[in-house]
Amino acid sequence: MNSLERTAAALVCDGKGILAADESVGTISKRFEALGIHSSQELRRQYRELLLGAPGIEAHVSGAILYDETIRQEASDGRRFPEVLAARGILTGIKVDTGAKPLAGAPGETVTEGLDGLRERIEHYRALGAAFAKWRAVLTIGSDKPTEAGIGANAHALGRYAALCQEGGLVPVVEPEILMGGDHDLACCYQVAHRVLARVFAELRANNVDLRAMILKPSMVMPGSSGPPAGVEDIAAATIGCLMDNVPASVPGVAFLSGGQGALLATLHLDAVARSGPHPWKVTFSFGRAIQDDPLGTWRGLEANVEEARAVLLERLEWCSAASVGAYASGA
Ligand code: 13P
Repeated sequence: MNSLERTAAALVCDGKGILAADESVGTISKRFEALGIHSSQELRRQYRELLLGAPGIEAHVSGAILYDETIRQEASDGRRFPEVLAARGILTGIKVDTGAKPLAGAPGETVTEGLDGLRERIEHYRALGAAFAKWRAVLTIGSDKPTEAGIGANAHALGRYAALCQEGGLVPVVEPEILMGGDHDLACCYQVAHRVLARVFAELRANNVDLRAMILKPSMVMPGSSGPPAGVEDIAAATIGCLMDNVPASVPGVAFLSGGQGALLATLHLDAVARSGPHPWKVTFSFGRAIQDDPLGTWRGLEANVEEARAVLLERLEWCSAASVGAYASGA
């Protein structure tokens, strides 16, 4: 195993997963404002310290994904966040895309940007302590969407990003997110996820990406949020079926995003997916909202609530950790 392969394997080692805390300033500000928290640079720093400095998270978290602002910030004791994480054996990840922008010629679709200057940014982030990176492509299901143009542009960018990461010494987390919004059913999401994953792996191969040194971060295969509901086991079966058809066994791990499902549902779905094994790759979490929403709501920007918020964070991580080995529902 080379060092990138070792890093990828460490990110998905048994019972551990990834804490996604890489919301851009705009996104975290919206989440703060919804709770009446003023979004200053200092409060964002305090919030990230609440998460990244919480004692005990290392039992469940293999890696934490940061945003550009956070990777440069320091904890209260003067250590930079990558050092705080490294001291407890947690790998630092960094969001390197610059966001989803409207895709010309494809109304209502986006392409994720950020390839310009990426080689240099990767070098810089490596020097700041990053071991892995993330790039999020966004696909929407709607009438005649996503188009081949939308899928192709996003898959191609993921392929070029992943190749640049590996060249520069970072493990790429490849995230093609299919948004939950819409009134489509489970079968429709399955078909779209199939098209997307097939194209993503075609582009990864075309760009000579080493599949043993990357992590796939997909959304679960689910009906749209206003579509006909599906049960936990059906969602798990559709998700695993789609992955088995498209994700080569050489990929070490699949770390799911939560996509706005809520903590309990995301946990139950991951648990059911894990129980449906054995699979050729590890399955685990790379949740943002499903881990953070409850601790953030407990904290509300107040120092006096840090301890309680950290207790909630730890509990959510315990859920995710148990689910990643299929031991949540059984309480094993
Ligand atoms: P959610 O789990 O909130 O979807 O966030 C994960 C993530 O990293 C999105 O890019």
